[in-house]
Order: sequence, then C-alpha cells, then structure tokens
Amino acid sequence: MTDQSPSAGIESVLKENRVFPPQDPATAGTPEWLISSMDAYREQHQYSIQDPDGYWSEVASELHWFTPWNKVLEWNAPDAKWFVGGTTNICYNCVDRQVDSGHGDDTAIIWEGEPVVAGEPEIRHLSYLDLQREVSRFAGALRSLGVRKGDVVTIYMGMVPELAIACLACARIGAPHSVIFGGFSSKAIVDRVCDAKSKVIVTCDGAWRRGKVVPLKDNVDEACAELATTPDAVETVVTLKRCANDIAWSSDRDRWWHDLVAEQPDEVPCEHMDAEDMLFLLYTSGSTGKPKGIVHTTGGYMVYTYLTSKYVFNLIPDLNKPARSQGPNGQVFWCTADVGWVTGHSYIIYGLLPNRVPTLMYEGAPNFPQEDRFWDIVERHKVTQFYTAPTAIRAFMKWGDEHPKAHDLSSLQVLGSVGEPINPEAWMWYRDTIGGGRCPIVDTWWQTETGGHMLTPLPGATPAKPGSCTLPFFGIDAAIVDELGVEQPLGTGGLLAIRKPWPSMLRGIHGDRERYIDTYWSKFEVDGQTPAGCPSPYYFPGDGALHDNDGYFWILGRVDDVINVSGHRLGTMEVESALVSHPTVVEAAVVGMPHDIKGTGIAAFVTLGSNQEPTDELRQALRSHVADEIGAIAKPDQIRFTAALPKTRSGKIMRRLLRSIAAGETELNQDTTTLEDYTVVATLQKDEG
Ligand code: PRX
Repeated sequence: MTDQSPSAGIESVLKENRVFPPQDPATAGTPEWLISSMDAYREQHQYSIQDPDGYWSEVASELHWFTPWNKVLEWNAPDAKWFVGGTTNICYNCVDRQVDSGHGDDTAIIWEGEPVVAGEPEIRHLSYLDLQREVSRFAGALRSLGVRKGDVVTIYMGMVPELAIACLACARIGAPHSVIFGGFSSKAIVDRVCDAKSKVIVTCDGAWRRGKVVPLKDNVDEACAELATTPDAVETVVTLKRCANDIAWSSDRDRWWHDLVAEQPDEVPCEHMDAEDMLFLLYTSGSTGKPKGIVHTTGGYMVYTYLTSKYVFNLIPDLNKPARSQGPNGQVFWCTADVGWVTGHSYIIYGLLPNRVPTLMYEGAPNFPQEDRFWDIVERHKVTQFYTAPTAIRAFMKWGDEHPKAHDLSSLQVLGSVGEPINPEAWMWYRDTIGGGRCPIVDTWWQTETGGHMLTPLPGATPAKPGSCTLPFFGIDAAIVDELGVEQPLGTGGLLAIRKPWPSMLRGIHGDRERYIDTYWSKFEVDGQTPAGCPSPYYFPGDGALHDNDGYFWILGRVDDVINVSGHRLGTMEVESALVSHPTVVEAAVVGMPHDIKGTGIAAFVTLGSNQEPTDELRQALRSHVADEIGAIAKPDQIRFTAALPKTRSGKIMRRLLRSIAAGETELNQDTTTLEDYTVVATLQKDEG
C-alpha cells in the first residue's frame, strides 16, 4: 500500500542505523575543522537561538557594510527585516573587499568549458582583480542601457564566467536579477519576463551541452516575438558570443556583450544598497501552474550564505595562497549545479566569493566526452570540496566505478549532497568510491525559499547517518509538528516547520502577497500564537520529515503537489497545463513515480479528445510538447492514455491512487470507497505506456 501521509517511509529509513563519526582533519586532508565537536556545535547553536541579535551581529561584522545596521531583526510575521538601517553591497563583499584587502591576484573563479580539443579543455582563471574589472564593465554596460536600481534584469545563459559576472554586475548597481535556467524553453522566459516586468535580457548565442549547441538566443528571440505586442515587450537583448552558432539579429533590440563592455570603464563603484533591497528574483515551481518569483534581499542573504558556506564546507581561505604554489592543500570549491538554480546562486557565487576560496564552474555535461568527466575535473583542478545532487551520484554509480577509479581524487576533503533525499546506498557509494572513506558527507536540506542550508551536518562535528540531513544549522529552529504546530515526539514523522525567522529567508513571492501567506504561513494553527494578518507563526516548507531518537531529521519528501525530479522542483500542475495545451488532450493528471536515477520520475495520465487515437506516436508527440512548453526536465517518463481519470464523487482526481498505479503496484488496497467509477482503475492498470 502506498501511504502518502507525511510519515510514509518511516519504517524503511529507520532500518538505517549506521553512524559515521567525523574523520579527523588529517584523514580528510584538511588542517582543521572550523567546528570540530558536537559540543562546539551545540554551544554555538544555542547562542544563535537564545541571542540571535548578538549572534548575527557578530557574523555580519565579518563582512563589509557602508553603514552599520541599527537593529538586527524586525519580525512581524510573516515579514522579516534583517540588519535594519544597514547598507552594504554583496558584489563589494564578493569582489572588491578581496581586492582591497590585498588579495586581488588570488583566484576567484576557475572555469572549464565543455569542448575538449586535442585532449585539452578550455580553462580560464579569473582573479578578484579580473572579476572587479569585468563586473564593473558589465555594470557600466547595463547602466548605458538605462538599467537603474530596482529594474529587474533577466539572465538566460549557459555556464560561462560571464553568467556570474552578469549576476554580480546587477548586484553592483542594485538591479535585481532573475536568472532562468538555460534548459527551460522560450515559454518559461515569456512567463518570467512578464511577471518580473523585465526590459533587458542577457543571453548567449548558444551553450555547449553534450557536444551540441543549445540555441539560447533563438529561444530568447521566440520569447521576444511573443512579448512584442504586449506591454511587457523586451527592449534590449545582450548576447555573449560563446558558440559562434548562427543567430538572427534585430538591430534595434540586439547588442553584443563585447561591443557594450568595450566602451566601459574598468571601475564602476558599488551602489549602497539597503539591507532589505531586493537582490534577486528566482522563479520556482509551486503546486499551481504559475511559477513563483521568490524574492531574496541583500543583507540577510549575504550573511547567511557566507556563514553556511564557511562552516558546512569548512572553507579556509588562507590556505590558498601558499598552498596553490606548494601543493595539494589549497582549497578549490566545486558546486556542480547550474547558476539557474538556487544552489548555483548561493554556493557558486554569493556564499563562496566572500569566503575567498576559488569557486569552480564547469560548463557542460558530466558524461562528455566520457563518463569520467567530473573526476577528470576534480583531478585536474585538485578540487577539495565537491557538491552535487543524489541524481548525479546514482548516474555515476550506474556508469561504473572504473571512471572515478581512473583518477586521483585524493585532493577531496568534503563531499556535499543537495536537492533530494539521498538514498543510503548512494550515500555509501559516494563516501567509499568518491571519498575513499576519508571525507565527510554533508547532506544539506534547504530550498529556493530558504536561500541557504537549513538542516545539515557540519563536517568535523556531526556524526553522519546515511540518508539523514542531520541537524539544524546555526540560527535555525526546526521541528517536526502536526497541523496544530504541536511538536511530535522523537522517533515519529510529521510536517517540517521552521519556528523562527532566519536571515536568508524569502521576503515574499513577487507581486503575490496572498500566495506567499497561503503557501508558507497558513499551515500550522498554533494555539494562541497567531500573529495579526498571518494565520501561522511557523514557516511551512512543504516537506514531510521525521526526527529519530537522536533528534536527527530525515526528509521524506513533498507533501504538496510538487515533485522533485532529479533534484529539481516541478509542479504537477505545470506539467498538466502543458499537456492540456496540446490540441488532442482534454484532461491530464500528473504524479511522481519511483525512478532509479532521477529519484522521482513523471507519470502522466491523459484523456484524449473523442476522435483521437492513443498511439505511440502521439505519446512521443506529447512528451516533446511538454519539453517545448517547459523544458526537457519536465518530459513525462510514462504517459498512460485513459478514457477517464479516477475521481471522487465530488470530482477530485484521486492522486494517491494514480501514484500507486504509476509505481506499478498491483494490489491497490487503498480506500476507494469515494471513487466514482471503479472500472477506471482496472483500465488504467492495463495501459503501461
Ligand atoms: O523537498 C526538498 C528537496 O528539495 C526541495 C527544495 O527544492 P528547490 O527549491 O528546488 O531547492 C533545491 C536545492 C536547495 C525541498 O523542499 N530537498 C532539497 N535538499 C534536500 C531535499 N530533500 C532531502 N534532502 C535534501 N538534502
């Protein structure tokens, strides 16, 4: 039986009772653990919870502020203001601060392109000075296009250094960016540009992916054509030349990146930003069809991503200078995510650069030209921190141990995982085959909305359990509660709740206050604690979880209509709307199903119009249609045609039942007493598209 209640799966995870104490630093190849014992963790956690003002003041003082804050936190649920009255600039802290403190020549970004020519990939090293110059020039370029503080700039690029440069340039002049993942389709650009009212798009002619060119500029052109006759018409498209593929050119709208920056000065000063000024918008899926523009602001996000980067990955900047010339100890941090996702925002750019450890960006696919590409990169650049997703780890397992075994991975110190629960088998493989049993694994639970890590081990302190994201980070008050906000006893499952504000929390959904409150601040009716204008005092992330007898958290998955495919969030409604927009489809229901590599795959149940034939060809056409509408990641793995969907008598689609069918369960001993038409289920089980 498939139990979709939040405590589903408790039994299976509880079978996992291995515990791995932290390695000593020498074993992991690091000179020290910044947080080196559970006592040190507990003491700092307690301080951060009991005296958040004192704690966060100290942390924030490690960074540069133009004007100090006069209040650390102003909290009127669900609205938080952090570092009230303070002004700063995150680009300054990422770049200029390093230059000003004498580290201008240190490496800020290491980039490796995908194509390999005569055995050699293209590699670029950008120092903080280089970055300061390039970011300044692009900031000047944006200004020359009329972009002013507060104007949203859309960025739709491949993984090239200019993507980080574009983000930092926006931050420098106070123009919030909205980065759209390069794997999304032109439709996704249209929706996001309209919602953000963005007049400028920054793109590339193309992006390299698995040896082919992804036509980014063509997608932008398509989106612009669709927007042209609306009030949201795009005024300027800036294109970086990367693949030299043929592109169309509109002389009144299109500008080359290289032409624009050529006219700009090497130094453009940083705007003084209020701590609560918007830093970026990042669209993510929710349980309705329309993506949500998650709003992050400057000060709190900066402080929190800086601190989580430092402690979760054990970043030690001063190792780098002597060590890069002397040997293997200088740190090189590599997060394999795309900057189009929050992981890339926080742990390629904004949390990393202020820590002055080089951040590595790789342009392409993990299996190009061969399945050992990632290990080749780790060996070539002596990567010390490696941060990836369980779906990638499962793919590596499938490709075979010979690939990592062919490379020297001894530089690695800390391994990270993010995006979805990591199954214990993958965890053990990661530890043994990639980490050689030497490196701690940090399984970090967080979300686009949280901005930074929330539940995570600290590599030198937390005994690890395969599959658990362990304990709350500093400042985080997490609990497992029921819908009344009542804390559940250890050893049981329930809903994950965050009971106190934290610096990098989202500040809202762009233009949709009601949805912000409904989605995140309405779940828990905590007796006697309901703030005015906000039904719940606790933040609801949408995940079910359990805490074990040691208080460790185990994430069980989403409890709403969001599915997590390869660590990326998709709303089932988004895929359903895409299917229904095809002329042959009258109704569709989409659910998650178990998938060996992706963790969760997409199963679609589709009802066709009366004259339509359910053929394999149509199945393929529908899959491609969804890819065109949303992007390749949303392609259903399974499409089943059905004359009707199982519904309750009140007309609600019985998704639980569909989930069981998609999972291939033959015995559906669920409660179907509310089912309207019993024959539907039998028919659905037969068609296994
Ligand atoms: O369900 C949780 C899952 O991913 C969701 C957040 O997705 P997104 O906003 O796209 O951000 C992904 C990268 C931070 C969460 O609600 N999730 C993320 N990390 C983990 C996880 N589930 C289990 N373990 C994790 N480490």
